[in-house]
Amino acid sequence: MSELNNIALKILSNGKGILAADESTGTMTKRLNDVKVPSTPENRLLFRETLFSSEAMKTCIGGVILYDETIKQNSSSKKTIPELISLSGAIPGIKVDTGAKKLALSNDETITEGLDGLRDRLKEYYDLGARFTKWRGVFKISIKNKLPSIESINANAHALGRYSALVQEAKMVPVVEPEVLMDGEHDIQTCYQVTKMVLKETFNQLSNSNVKLDGIILKPNMILPGSNSSKKVTNEEVAQQTLKCLKENVPIEVPGIAFLSGGQTEIEATKNLNLINKHNDSKFIMSYSYGRALQKSALKFWSNDIKNIKGTQNTFNHRAKMSSLAAQGKWSEEIETK
Ligand code: 13P
Repeated sequence: MSELNNIALKILSNGKGILAADESTGTMTKRLNDVKVPSTPENRLLFRETLFSSEAMKTCIGGVILYDETIKQNSSSKKTIPELISLSGAIPGIKVDTGAKKLALSNDETITEGLDGLRDRLKEYYDLGARFTKWRGVFKISIKNKLPSIESINANAHALGRYSALVQEAKMVPVVEPEVLMDGEHDIQTCYQVTKMVLKETFNQLSNSNVKLDGIILKPNMILPGSNSSKKVTNEEVAQQTLKCLKENVPIEVPGIAFLSGGQTEIEATKNLNLINKHNDSKFIMSYSYGRALQKSALKFWSNDIKNIKGTQNTFNHRAKMSSLAAQGKWSEEIETK
C-alpha cells in the first residue's frame, strides 16, 4: 500500500471524517459577524483551538483542514496548531487554493486560482506539518443561463488535475473538491446530470496529470435539489441518487469520499450521510468533510458564552459524534435527541 493511500485511509477509517476549519479570513469574518463576535486573529484562533482540543478529535476526526493563518498560529499551550491536532491522533491538512475568481468572459462563473508558486507553498506547508491539502472548484447551476458552461467545467477540472499532481509530488494527499452548488431552483435530476459531467471531466483531468487515484480523497456535493426548488425530495431519494452518481462516475481506485455539507442544516447533512451509508454497497468509504454542519451549533453556543470552553466543546463533541455515527450508518433520531 502506498504512503498516500495510508494517509487517506487513516483520515477516513473507523467512522472518522474531516473537520473543514479552513474558512478564509473573509468567510470566517462573515461567520463571526453573523453571531456578533469581532473577527480578530485572537478570536478566530480561540474558537478553532477550542474545537481542536475537544474530546471528539480523538474519536471522530481523522483530519482537520486549516487555513494559512491558522497553520502558522500557536496554541495557548505554546504548541503549534499542527502539533495540537497531531496530539489527538488527527492529521493536519491545509487549503491551498487562493479562492474562486471571476472566469474571464463568463456569465457569473468562477475559476479557482492558486497554481502559481504552489510547489514552493506546498513545501512550506509540509514543513509546518500538513500531510493533506484541499482545493475547491465551484460549479453554479442555472437553467436560464445554461450553467455550468463547458469553459467553467474544463478550466476548473484542469486546475484540480494540476493541483493534485503537485500535491502528490510533495508527498501529500490532495482532497479534490468539485462543488456543484445547491443554490438555485433546479430539481434533483439536474444536480445529478451536472455532477456527473463535472466528475467525469475532473477524473479525466486527474488521469491526464498522472495522479494516483488511490492517493486522493474526493470531496463532492451530495445529489440534492436546488435550495429554491419547488420539487422537494425525501432523504431516501437523496441517498439513492448520491450513491448511484458516485458509483457510476468515480473510479474504483479512489479509497474514500468525504462529502461537503454545502449549506444543508446539521441534521439534514447527518441524516443524508446516514442513509447513504445504510445503503452503501460500493467499496468507497463514505464519510464527511463538513465545515458548517460540524461547527454551526458550537459557534452559536460559543458566541453566547465566549468563556465557556467546556460547553462549546460539548456542543462540538455531540455534532462530531452524530456525524461519525452517520458515517457508519448507525445514526438515529433517538440518539440525536437523547
Ligand atoms: P461546508 O461543509 O460548510 O460546505 O464546507 C466545506 C468546505 O470545505 C467548503 O469548501
